[in-house]
Amino acid sequence: MSDIVNAINLKHEEALNKANLEIDRRKDTIKNSCYRLNNHFMAPVGWINDPNGLVQYKGEYHLFYQYYPYDSKWGPMHWGHAKSTDLVHWEHLPVALAPSESYDSGEVLGYGCFSGSAVVNGEELVLIYTGHVDNKEPMQVQCMATSKDGIQFEKYHQNPVIDDYPEDGSPDFRDPKVWNHDGKWYMVVGSHKDGKGKALLYVSINLKDWEYVGVASESDGTQGDMWECPDLFPLQNQHVILVSPMYGKQNEKPFYVIGDMNYEKGVFTQQIPRTLDYGFDFYAPQTLVDDNGRRIMIGWMEKWLTNMPSQEHGWAGAMTIPRELLLEAGTIVKQRPVTELANLRTNEKHYDSFVVEDKWIVNEMDVSSEVIVDFDLKETTASSFGIQLRCSEDGNERTEIILDAAKKEIIFDRNFSGVGEKGMSKAPFTINDGGTVQVRIFMDTTSVEVFVNDGEQVITNRIFPDESSKLFKLFSKDGKVSVSRMTTWTLNSVWE
Ligand code: FRU
Repeated sequence: MSDIVNAINLKHEEALNKANLEIDRRKDTIKNSCYRLNNHFMAPVGWINDPNGLVQYKGEYHLFYQYYPYDSKWGPMHWGHAKSTDLVHWEHLPVALAPSESYDSGEVLGYGCFSGSAVVNGEELVLIYTGHVDNKEPMQVQCMATSKDGIQFEKYHQNPVIDDYPEDGSPDFRDPKVWNHDGKWYMVVGSHKDGKGKALLYVSINLKDWEYVGVASESDGTQGDMWECPDLFPLQNQHVILVSPMYGKQNEKPFYVIGDMNYEKGVFTQQIPRTLDYGFDFYAPQTLVDDNGRRIMIGWMEKWLTNMPSQEHGWAGAMTIPRELLLEAGTIVKQRPVTELANLRTNEKHYDSFVVEDKWIVNEMDVSSEVIVDFDLKETTASSFGIQLRCSEDGNERTEIILDAAKKEIIFDRNFSGVGEKGMSKAPFTINDGGTVQVRIFMDTTSVEVFVNDGEQVITNRIFPDESSKLFKLFSKDGKVSVSRMTTWTLNSVWE
């Protein structure tokens, strides 16, 4: 057996060394790319997609991610790795997983170490991921790797730990999310059958031997024909499932469902699905529960099959800011940016109540800023009103966040935002009891995240305006809008 273990480790080490050397060789070439973000997680170079293995281990937060360091396009998947003490400042670590074995090989047959999760088992940090080999039957299997120091990972010599999909699934059988409940390990894996996306449930006592339980949750026929990256977890006294659905080859907006988990039967009884984020650039979110009991979510701030201007600069992909999930009245999951982000604030400007008629120019605003605006709808006569940000002097380049009070709809218009994808994202909003609506915006060099009413609705979009487009304006159409309070901050870079 030790020969097998050595052979696996040697091959894996070789693949890791090659990847790490490549990162070292190229990382300086992208440092000055104008599209790099100031306060979002990005890889040192190359392509990233899904966040993987979010976990707090020995007090530190670990973020792994789908990674192809050799190019700014997707390729045989590695697991990149970083850690943080505050979820905001990240330290890049050596690549954790590289394709190397018959069950996850990359170079020849493709496609490597797909998405998965991490758990702490005693002293060990354990990664559970999908090994994917094209042209192989079965194409996707579930694998394990362990570490005693949280940095170097050994692939389990008896991988895969789940070597085939069950009768309820299909060869698309990926993205294991593992958690502990009452001393047992549970895993949901994304799959599909008969046109319905599914989250398949497994149970284990040792993370190595897994028993299939059944379908924990599935599409009702309209919620996607393949479910990627399911994440099932307790939130207060209920459970929530997050799903990244596919319709044919198209990835659509992730949704969440609140329900009850019956561990005896292995079934999640679910209510109505709700959109997690109404933006274009949010996919494959994953959560962790931290030592303070907070349920925190990070998503991939990009989307498959889109034009990514940063690719020309040798990199692509970033993560959203971390968002704490909170259950509101048992019916809504709110997303609140983690409080640690407030440590980046500087240059605070506060504006007491004022009225905007036609146009009110605030001024230049740093490209990395946070803004909180409370609109008072009792005093508002405008048919629509909102914010223009990253505007050029002549106004031709701009990104608009428009609120339509009658329709109770918020629209993110990036048709004039610069290079990159265009389009409008729309989300419904509610008016608070006091007759107000709060809009909180995190802007960074090439991203905007909008949180409405303390994260009841969220819109995440990438934009690629010119560096010089920095004007920030409030506007109203056909009447006036009353602002009861507005505060703005510059956000410091986490990368300097
Ligand atoms: C989701 C996804 C996963 C898969 C990974 C591959 O974005 O397609 O289902 O494991 O990306 O990189």
